[in-house]
Amino acid sequence: MTSKEIRASFLSFFKEKSHEIVASAPMVLKSDPSLLFTNAGMNQFKEYFLGNTVAQNKRIADTQKCLRVSGKHNDLEEVGMDTYHHTMFEMLGNWSFGDYFKKEAISWAWEFLTEVCGIEKDRLYVTVFEGDQKENLAFDQEAFDYWSGIVAKERILNGNKKDNFWEMGAQGPCGPCSEIHVDIRDKEEREKIPGASLVNKDHPQVVEIWNLVFMQFNRLANGSLETLPEQHVDTGMGFERLCMVLQGVQSNYDTDVFSPIIKEIEKITNVNYQPTSDPNSLEGKPSVAIRVISDHLRAVAFSIADGQLPSNTGAGYVIRRILRRAIRYGFTFLGQKQAFIYQLVDTLVQEMSGTFTELGKEQNLITNVIQKEEEAFLKTLEQGLSLLDQLLEKQTKEVALSGKKVFELYDTYGFPEDLTALILSEQGYHYNQEEFKKALQEQKDRSRAASQLDTGDWEHVNDNDDLEDFIGYDQLESKIYITKYRKTKHPKKGTQYQIVCNTTPFYPEGGGQVGDTGVFISEDNEKINIIDTKKEHSIIVHTTKELPKNIKTSLKAVVNKNKRKLTQANHTATHLLHQALYQVLGSHVAQKGSMVQDQYLRFDFSHFEKVSQQQLQEIEDFVNAKIQAQIPLQEERSIAFDTAIEKGATALFGEKYGDKVRMIQFGNSIELCGGTHADNTGELWGFKITSESAVASGIRRIEAITTEALKKHYLKTEQTLNDVLDNLKVRKNPVKAIENLHKENNKLKEELKALLTAKISNIREELQSELESLNTTNKQEVLFLAKELELDGQSIKDLCFELGQSFKNTCLVFGSKHNNKALLSCYLDKALVENKGLNASVMIKELGKHIGGNGGGQAFFATAGGKNTDGIGKALEKAKELVLS
Ligand code: SER
Repeated sequence: MTSKEIRASFLSFFKEKSHEIVASAPMVLKSDPSLLFTNAGMNQFKEYFLGNTVAQNKRIADTQKCLRVSGKHNDLEEVGMDTYHHTMFEMLGNWSFGDYFKKEAISWAWEFLTEVCGIEKDRLYVTVFEGDQKENLAFDQEAFDYWSGIVAKERILNGNKKDNFWEMGAQGPCGPCSEIHVDIRDKEEREKIPGASLVNKDHPQVVEIWNLVFMQFNRLANGSLETLPEQHVDTGMGFERLCMVLQGVQSNYDTDVFSPIIKEIEKITNVNYQPTSDPNSLEGKPSVAIRVISDHLRAVAFSIADGQLPSNTGAGYVIRRILRRAIRYGFTFLGQKQAFIYQLVDTLVQEMSGTFTELGKEQNLITNVIQKEEEAFLKTLEQGLSLLDQLLEKQTKEVALSGKKVFELYDTYGFPEDLTALILSEQGYHYNQEEFKKALQEQKDRSRAASQLDTGDWEHVNDNDDLEDFIGYDQLESKIYITKYRKTKHPKKGTQYQIVCNTTPFYPEGGGQVGDTGVFISEDNEKINIIDTKKEHSIIVHTTKELPKNIKTSLKAVVNKNKRKLTQANHTATHLLHQALYQVLGSHVAQKGSMVQDQYLRFDFSHFEKVSQQQLQEIEDFVNAKIQAQIPLQEERSIAFDTAIEKGATALFGEKYGDKVRMIQFGNSIELCGGTHADNTGELWGFKITSESAVASGIRRIEAITTEALKKHYLKTEQTLNDVLDNLKVRKNPVKAIENLHKENNKLKEELKALLTAKISNIREELQSELESLNTTNKQEVLFLAKELELDGQSIKDLCFELGQSFKNTCLVFGSKHNNKALLSCYLDKALVENKGLNASVMIKELGKHIGGNGGGQAFFATAGGKNTDGIGKALEKAKELVLS
């Protein structure tokens, strides 16, 4: 079976068992503060498990794009070294939300693997949770009994909490699990060492392929387990591993999921992939590199398609580091000094875009971004190499290079430790690893301390099904009551509370629009400020610094109306801007991010060059025409996704849409959007672009203003103009007046220059006559002059060189005052420097002491500046002594 057939057969198997087949959720998460990326198929269903939301369909199956590169599930360092770990992988899964439980989950998994896929039963092992005394959890007898009915007893193994109790993260739904492992070794090997002894022992040919989790608990912040209201099933099967088994190969990388990419890498780099080479040997490294690159390419490409570009913070930084790891492996082990990974995108798209259409649609952007990132990082690597060379020049092989320096290379220049280590060992150097580790740990501690948010457990206040109902499209005030709250602690923000209510008019941050602020008012007029509103999965969370005295009674929730009104005008403006960009720049423009608040709006979009001034004007004109047309809002709260798309609505990549969506229409601008909007485009007053810039390669950013901010902008501009007119003392035409000023200024400058030249010429003549002939100790004649002048530094310098060129053996020392500061200049003829060993730079350091300053320069001309103007005379006297000595 090809990988495409394997995927299809899994989905159709569960479809026949009444499962709804859903699309993969985006790999980059937006509404879960505890995770950056989807790390398991169950993430998008977390709220169903917790009972916060009721699933429309109790049986679901899909293939989910997952990324395990941070937090509890992080496989990054294993990738490339073995044959079956990945950063990005597909997880095939089937779910029951309060419907079937262990019996069906177990028997269907067995049926699919042995009957549909035809895996020999004597290659399979299953594990059962053995229980855990500390947690007071019992042996999973129920699972054991079901397995015993279909699998030989000796193939059922007990598993400990680490392997057989699945948890998503530090908090959240969890439960005991049964894993299915497959032994793909040949017969002889299997007879020699029984497979059972290799289960969960990191053996590359005895691997886990499917994990059946029986969700029964919720792990609370205090570490205890709470029983969930219902029992659920969450299964996850490694798609690439299943392909390995069914395609009869020994490595995920030998399946048709990876082999087309690997062939392409071989072609570009001229390096042969050797699947069985030892990853720890030097000869094995190029093959490790090929695996790393083929894996990381997928992680990065899928992230970009989901809207997460490489950047310097958060999820974007993780993506940048993955790509840099791939570049580094290519650089070090495949000799790739030029960007090349971007060339693999074509092959990846050909292979995968049938299932994941977002890849094909975003191909240009993915290619461009990867290429630019590669080029930039290769430059960094070069800089790092030359810095390292400089460090090594001062280093002896016997002494360890400072670990702090290695850390500095890593931290400031992105130069990785293992690469530094490799280069050092190749040249016979070594470094202080402990010192490096310490510096790294200190940095980690610093950033963890700065970002860590401690979240307490929810305290239930009033009974409610916790189904938060957002009523803020229609109302900005409402009677509410608190259903639950929890305390949070942040190193910078301090203690805050998160409040959930039965219903709320407060808009939670989403779709780029900031969350509402406002107040909760109690019956006895106590006011609690709400400083932000966010959505966590399906729950709307209000943030406040204090709780009301009586949290049980009802409250009046009042949204800050003015802020909301200004914000929604800007949100409507982003839709009109999006439409304008599409019209003016072309259909390649796709929204890549937005930020909508009361003061301004920001809109990021894919476009490969600077937007010209003329285009910006056209865009502004387009939006202003829509505002003048006073187009009313047409809103469909709950329309079928497909119908909305047929009507021409724009959907965004990387967003997860349900079957029913909200459609926002202003004339022919139609978007799927959950945000709040102006009732009529006329409410925007006008639209002004304030900046256009690049945010990443292939991504441009426009910032703009409307309504009150626009009014303020014009008032400010007018005020500035009035100030200019007042200053120029004219009534109109300031441009002409400024031009005249410039002309006059230039004329005066010319006159001043002529005067100065004449003055210098007079002084020069005067000084020539004052040159004193000195006979120094070694009988060499010096034409010496030390004097205070009323000239600026540049004029003194010019004068020195003019005089110096007219006479031989001159030594000139001049002092001057300017703005209450003292300046000393020292000029020496070349002959004095070469024959007499005099040095202006040395002399000026000595003389500078008298004016309380330091100086420097070259051997034949140097200057010193200082605060002590009274010391000039003493310095000039001292100059003569220095020459004579
Ligand atoms: N959540 C489980 C896992 O990720 C099964 O889907 O392994």
